[in-house]
Amino acid sequence: MGTGTTMVSGKVRKDLSTKTYQNGNIPIVASTENRSSSRKKKMIQRRNKETVICPVQKLFETCKKVFANCKSGTVPSPQHIQMLRAVLDEIKPEDVGVSPKMPFFRSKMTGRSPLVTYLHIHKCHRFSIGIFCLPPSGVIPLHNHPEMTVFSKLLFGTIHIKSYDWVSDSPQPSLDTRLAKVKVDSEFTAPCDTSILYPTDGGNLHCFIAKTACAVLDVLGPPYSDPAGRHCTYYFDYPFSSYSVDGVDVPEEEKEGYAWLKEREEEPEDLKMSLKVQKDRI
Ligand SMILES: [Fe+2]
Repeated sequence: MGTGTTMVSGKVRKDLSTKTYQNGNIPIVASTENRSSSRKKKMIQRRNKETVICPVQKLFETCKKVFANCKSGTVPSPQHIQMLRAVLDEIKPEDVGVSPKMPFFRSKMTGRSPLVTYLHIHKCHRFSIGIFCLPPSGVIPLHNHPEMTVFSKLLFGTIHIKSYDWVSDSPQPSLDTRLAKVKVDSEFTAPCDTSILYPTDGGNLHCFIAKTACAVLDVLGPPYSDPAGRHCTYYFDYPFSSYSVDGVDVPEEEKEGYAWLKEREEEPEDLKMSLKVQKDRI
């Protein structure tokens, strides 16, 4: 979704001049050069220990570890998934500089649906980080994440998510239409857990409809890449009963849980996306 790379130092250090000492006194300055130098060393060591990394920097550093060997279809280890999920779970809108009062979250109608803004934070060949800003009724149409693992954190708002996974080895009515199983069809309201989708499960294809103004922090590993064959493709979804295909049989009561997804030839008319680079975030 985004291009380019934004890297600005974002480390925050505690101001040691405001530190109080246990005995309430200013520390005694050593009378010899050696003791002074030793105290300086200790001060530097203490300062290094007290370095506090801002949440976005922490997210960036964690992504570097989690996606260190990331390529098409690579799923991070369970430990790494937990590590990144824990970092995302802690992130608040103010940590990434978004608030529902910002202009991105006001409806600017451009045809049928309001403009959705993507705030690009970082992209390299292993992962990307960005924020989707959806005004009320904003839509991100049904699309895929080929060979990717995706972490999505709803920062604020209420959003309806419908997601699917492909049914493997199912006969197809045509080359551009495949059977998919519904994974999620629900509304989510922040604060809620980070959701994760995988190359073949977890709801690899999804669409978002904002019920209120919403911000979604997205981490993709690896990111979309046309040269690497990871194209973003959009789909129409049709009820299971729309096609009758030999060899595909689903019990009547389970038909609602399946759909036929047909590739869209052109970018959807309801996709109104604007890209902005979020500076000074990493
Ligand atoms: Fe997506």
